[in-house]
Amino acid sequence: MSSLPSSSTTAPAAPASHKEGVTADARGKMVFEGACVSCHGWSGESLVSSMATLTGSWAVNDPAATNVAQIVISGTKRYTPDGALSMPAFGNAYSDDEIAAVANHVTARFGAKGSKLTAKDVAELRQQTAQ
Ligand code: HEC
Repeated sequence: MSSLPSSSTTAPAAPASHKEGVTADARGKMVFEGACVSCHGWSGESLVSSMATLTGSWAVNDPAATNVAQIVISGTKRYTPDGALSMPAFGNAYSDDEIAAVANHVTARFGAKGSKLTAKDVAELRQQTAQ
């Protein structure tokens, strides 16, 4: 995992309640609530695994949000000494628009800057992923 450039700052954990903290995109928040909150939590500090904590991660602090969208499209699986750690792929469950919205919500709520990903960006990422 890449580390952050020393000049950038990461945001602290978001509040545990969905009523507090940043909601950049109402639709993105809805997708997050339906698909992500069970593993990642409203605060970004995962109850499932510290590996799934979004707060302070490189992905949510990247204003391009490419990695966030990519991981939502494709999911991820890795093997740790404690067993397999996986995140399901949501590429088939959500539209380009919804994936862009949730990526923008996640970077705004958990990251230092927030992204402005569009449905078109997500469509391009899907094509790269398919290759
Ligand atoms: C079943 C549990 C689960 C669900 C549901 C889930 N994730 Fe994850 N997610 C994980 C796990 C586990 C990891 C860590 C994987 C790893 O480190 O290899 C992860 C990693 C991530 C990362 C990368 C964090 C980093 O360290 O850079 C992002 C971003 C992310 N998830 C966003 C989302 C979004 C957005 C959703 C909803 C669309 C979602 N996740 C739904 C389990 C989940």
